[in-house]
Amino acid sequence: MIESKIKSTVRDVNDFPKAGIVFKDITPILKDPQLCMEITKALAEQLKDVGIDVVAGIESRGFLFGPTLAQLLNVPFVPIRKAGKLPYKTVKQSYDLEYGTATIELHEDALIAGQKVLIHDDLLATGGTVVAASKLVMQLGAEVAGYSFIIALDFLNGRVRLAPYNTQIFSLASY
Ligand code: PRP
Ligand code: ADE
Repeated sequence: MIESKIKSTVRDVNDFPKAGIVFKDITPILKDPQLCMEITKALAEQLKDVGIDVVAGIESRGFLFGPTLAQLLNVPFVPIRKAGKLPYKTVKQSYDLEYGTATIELHEDALIAGQKVLIHDDLLATGGTVVAASKLVMQLGAEVAGYSFIIALDFLNGRVRLAPYNTQIFSLASY
C-alpha cells in the first residue's frame, strides 16, 4: 500500500530547522523512481473527478511532483514562488508556517478568472502556506478546486484551517 511505502521511506529529522520540530524529509523518496511514479499516479487517481483546469505548485517542494501531476492530468502547471523570484508583475501574500514566516507570489497573468485551480504541495502542516496560496488564487478571480499533498500532518489541524476555502483535501500519507 502506498501509504506504508511513503512512511517507510520518509526520514524523520529531529530539531530541524528549529528545536522541537520533527522534519519529514522526503528526499529518500526522490531516490526511488518507481515510488515517485506510483506517488504521482496515485495523486492523479485521487483527483480524476475533481474538475481541475490548472495545477498551482508551491516552491520548492511543490515543484517536485507538481509539474508531473499536471502533465498526467493534462492541464497547465503554474509556479507559486517565494518572494522576489518571479520576474513579471505579481500578487503577494505573507503567512506563518510551522517554523517561521514567509511571503509567496504568483504572476498576475498566471490564471484566468473562473479557472478551477488545484493547489499542490508536498506536505500539509499548519496550513499557513496553502491558505496564503488560496488567497493568491482568489485575488486573480480563480477558484480553489481542491488541495493535494503527499503527506498531511493531521495533528497540526491544517485541514481545519483549509475548510473555509475548500474541503476537497487529498493526501497519500497522514500522521
Ligand atoms: C514546507 C512545505 C510546505 C510548508 C507546510 O515548505 O513544503 O510548503 O512548509 O507548512 P505549513 O502547512 O505550516 O504552512 P518550506 O516553507 O519549508 O519551504 P521549502 O518547500 O522550500 O522547503
Ligand atoms: N513543513 C512544515 N512543517 C514541516 C515538517 N514537520 N516537515 C517537513 N516539512 C514541513
